[in-house]
Amino acid sequence: MSQTADLVVQDLHVAVEGKQILKGLSLEVRKGEVHALMGPNGSGKSTLANTLMGHPRYEVTGGDILFKGESILGLESDARSRAGLFLAFQYPVAIPGVTVSNFLRTALNARLAPRVATTDGSMPARRGIAPKEFRALLREHMALLKMDESFALRYLNDGFSGGEKKRTEILQMAMLKPEIAIMDETDSGLDIDALRIVSEGVNALSGPDLGVLVITHYQRILDYIKPHFVHVMLDGRITLSGGPELALELESRGYDFVREGKESAR
Ligand SMILES: Nc1ncnc2c1ncn2[C@@H]1O[C@H](COP(=O)(O)OP(=O)(O)O)[C@@H](O)[C@H]1O
Ligand SMILES: [Mg+2]
Repeated sequence: MSQTADLVVQDLHVAVEGKQILKGLSLEVRKGEVHALMGPNGSGKSTLANTLMGHPRYEVTGGDILFKGESILGLESDARSRAGLFLAFQYPVAIPGVTVSNFLRTALNARLAPRVATTDGSMPARRGIAPKEFRALLREHMALLKMDESFALRYLNDGFSGGEKKRTEILQMAMLKPEIAIMDETDSGLDIDALRIVSEGVNALSGPDLGVLVITHYQRILDYIKPHFVHVMLDGRITLSGGPELALELESRGYDFVREGKESAR
């Protein structure tokens, strides 16, 4: 029993549309730790990320997900977010008509407000973060991510380049201050400059109060974000775990050596 891990995934089995994708995945992430989860396309990485955030299409058929010692399987995505989990999407959606600034303010107020039920089912009256305070916070975090201030007034992800979308995800993460952040292929589609800026943002945010799970197909982002632990996923399970040196080994030898190791271990 691990009392100290903030996120504990225990023997997780997940099916999508009747097809078993995760087949007994276990993983523990503590605050202050950076974990990299690597694996070829189709190994189930996004399935894990989406299941952790409570996406309704992903059916947990076995195992458990504990956050701060309690199962979160019964919680909706918004409750998981308020509890301190954050997922940066592989494919962020566009919301024309909603500015980045408005979206972030709404998200922040939802994250900060403990939901107290009222008798008529409405949200209790509250003021949320003051506009002036919000603008200062937004400006500070946009500067950290080297984003132009005019960006805040654009519609969320509408016509954004790949790099702008990913930067917006990291901006959201910076504003929401999660305890555990999961980043699903935040590196895909980024040129080197954007990759560096996104990585610098993540590095600036990481510290004793944040645990990060970086999910990636490529070793490249790990040149910028230094993980403490590296896990390799094949066919719905973690088949190999190690330190940062494992990422380098994967870069030089590819995923085949893990597959071969798995075969010979049988
Ligand atoms: N929403 C979905 N509907 C149907 N099949 C899915 C869905 N999500 C994932 N899968 C299937 O699950 C497997 C793992 O996919 P995924 O988790 O996206 O892997 P990865 O992120 O490692 O590339 C694939 O065979 C994929 O086709
Ligand atoms: Mg994926």
